[in-house]
Amino acid sequence: MRVVSTKAELKSLLDACRLEGKSISLVPTMGALHEGHASLVRRSVAENDVTVVSVFVNPTQFNDKNDLKNYPRTLEADCALLEKEGADIVFAPTVEEMYPEEDTRVFAFSPLDTVMEGACRPGHFNGVAQIVSKLFYAVEPDRAYFGEKDFQQLAIIREMVRQLSFDIEIVGCPIVRENDGLAMSSRNTLLSAEERERALTISRTLFKSLEYAKGNNLAETKAFVEAAINETPGLDLEYYQIVDGNTLQAIEEWSDSEYVVGCIALFCGKVRLIDNIVYKDKE
Ligand code: PAJ
Repeated sequence: MRVVSTKAELKSLLDACRLEGKSISLVPTMGALHEGHASLVRRSVAENDVTVVSVFVNPTQFNDKNDLKNYPRTLEADCALLEKEGADIVFAPTVEEMYPEEDTRVFAFSPLDTVMEGACRPGHFNGVAQIVSKLFYAVEPDRAYFGEKDFQQLAIIREMVRQLSFDIEIVGCPIVRENDGLAMSSRNTLLSAEERERALTISRTLFKSLEYAKGNNLAETKAFVEAAINETPGLDLEYYQIVDGNTLQAIEEWSDSEYVVGCIALFCGKVRLIDNIVYKDKE
């Protein structure tokens, strides 16, 4: 496994791979890697000749300066995990390398980015599109892997690929959870023991709501989740939206869509967590 920090080094390694006709894939991450990231890397390694994993805490997607400052940075442990999972190249650039000058590009993903995370975190998805497009230009992968944990991000990346005509297959991968159900997240390490216990209410409630939804309408199911979160001290709900999985727009009845997903965001203490659950699957 090679660890490089410049686009030039990356390009020379990848040009050699391309000359040999190898397929190249990219797994973009912000590091502090866990089993959720590992699942993406494993799938990429199984499906491609060369897997590049980027590790970069992207400042332009943080709307909260403290969140950026406190974001865990663990490159050494990340490289150990990536080596074990069979990644070929780790790209860990500096901020200056990725943003030698200010990126003034403004993307338009409406209405995908005007709801949920887009509404609560102004500029977030513009920053995500800036860095992911830069990574796509730098790596020119055949495929790129993203987790369904960040459900809205995945939809926006697909839209960006369409708008910018990238010839890249976007592969969505299922949410990986802790044994007790909590969706894995780099931010989980920031939770105190007590907060970690409270955070369990999120996945428990979402799973309970799957059962509840069988005998109740959509508005009742939404209220069921909202009440369970609001009743838990220490959890501060930002939103629970039940949406069409393709358009991300809120729906009113179960029959309004063939692909129905519930997306939640909340604060557990000072730590912001997201999760989602599929009520009706696309297939
Ligand atoms: P990060 O939060 O590090 O996540 C990197 C990738 O891992 C994303 O595609 C995310 O959806 C996926 N992932 C995280 N937790 C997961 C879990 N529990 N199960 C499955 N997949 C999971 O998302 C970002 O970084 C950034 O926005 C990025 C795309 C790298 C751009 O900066």
